Amino acid sequence: MTHTLTLARPDDWHLHLRDGAMLKAVLPETARHFARAIVMPNLVPPVVTGADAESYRARIMAALPEGAGFTPLMTLYLTEDTDPDDLAAAHAAGLITAVKLYPAGATTNSASGVSNFENVRPVLERMAEIGCPLCVHGEVTDREIDIFDREAVFIDRILDPIRKSVPGLKVVMEHITTKNAADYVKDNAAGLAATITVQHLMLDRNDMLVGGMRPHYYCLPILKRREHREALLAAATSGDARYFLGTDSAPHPTHAKEAECCAAGCFTAPIALSCLAEVFEAAGALDKLEGFTSLHGPAFYGLPVNDAKITLTKGAPLTFDKSLPAGEHTVTVFDPGMPLHWHVS
Ligand code: DOR
Ligand code: ZN
Repeated sequence: MTHTLTLARPDDWHLHLRDGAMLKAVLPETARHFARAIVMPNLVPPVVTGADAESYRARIMAALPEGAGFTPLMTLYLTEDTDPDDLAAAHAAGLITAVKLYPAGATTNSASGVSNFENVRPVLERMAEIGCPLCVHGEVTDREIDIFDREAVFIDRILDPIRKSVPGLKVVMEHITTKNAADYVKDNAAGLAATITVQHLMLDRNDMLVGGMRPHYYCLPILKRREHREALLAAATSGDARYFLGTDSAPHPTHAKEAECCAAGCFTAPIALSCLAEVFEAAGALDKLEGFTSLHGPAFYGLPVNDAKITLTKGAPLTFDKSLPAGEHTVTVFDPGMPLHWHVS
């Protein structure tokens, strides 16, 4: 039986760090285990220009604990007014690594997202030309479409047409939650990949809804039925390099989660790696963990694998703080509701 695992230091290919007191509270949790992260731009107001990304990056660097070896990989929030020249200049300067597409209204702080996809075609064409990947929140926002179907419908109605009309555009389907999305990636050629979160590998909608509603399991895209979780787990543990970790760790103050209208997002950063080791071990796939956390993402983004290593050791059930202070508030740490045995050092 394996009791110790040494992996190349992981990266998080989809992360929300927020700003101000929340940034200060959550950044050390990611920097402790991860070398790099793709930082989401959905601040209020969003990070839309190269100048915005530069100043947000400076705020992140200023909030890093002393000696932390962590590099934020910045993104721009795509709007119908995004200037292709500004985007290309930020990409050429190494200031941004990717651009994020939120369909307008799809999730937290997505009001400035895209409504008419024809209006962003020139930007997407420019991105294809310069090799800047598009990270996609893949859900339609049409009220007619059931929330559990929104990802599958997005693939047919929006994603597939975009990919056909802008060939050469590198696309990451972020936080996939369905078998449909996992299959779409599998059935398509190079230039398409998907990130998968911790919670979507561990939980299904029953965990969120049976016996009472658990707000700390509510995120978007919403947890789906068990068959989908199984398909995601099969994809993540397959060794296929097109699937990699994006935690989508998305902190909200506890009062905003435990509210009449609960904010979407699971704050998984502090225990993400322990959770993953637990599920990969249960699937008999510990040998595939390093690919998922540390190798496949850099390969897709054309970045080097981290030289530093991280060690996971199996032992007594992990105890961890269920809540962290965040300025005047607290932020509740995701608890998968099952014992975790892998300790990270
Ligand atoms: O659950 C989510 N939370 N999904 C998203 O897409 C956004 C995120 C957030 O920013 O809180
Ligand atoms: Zn996200």
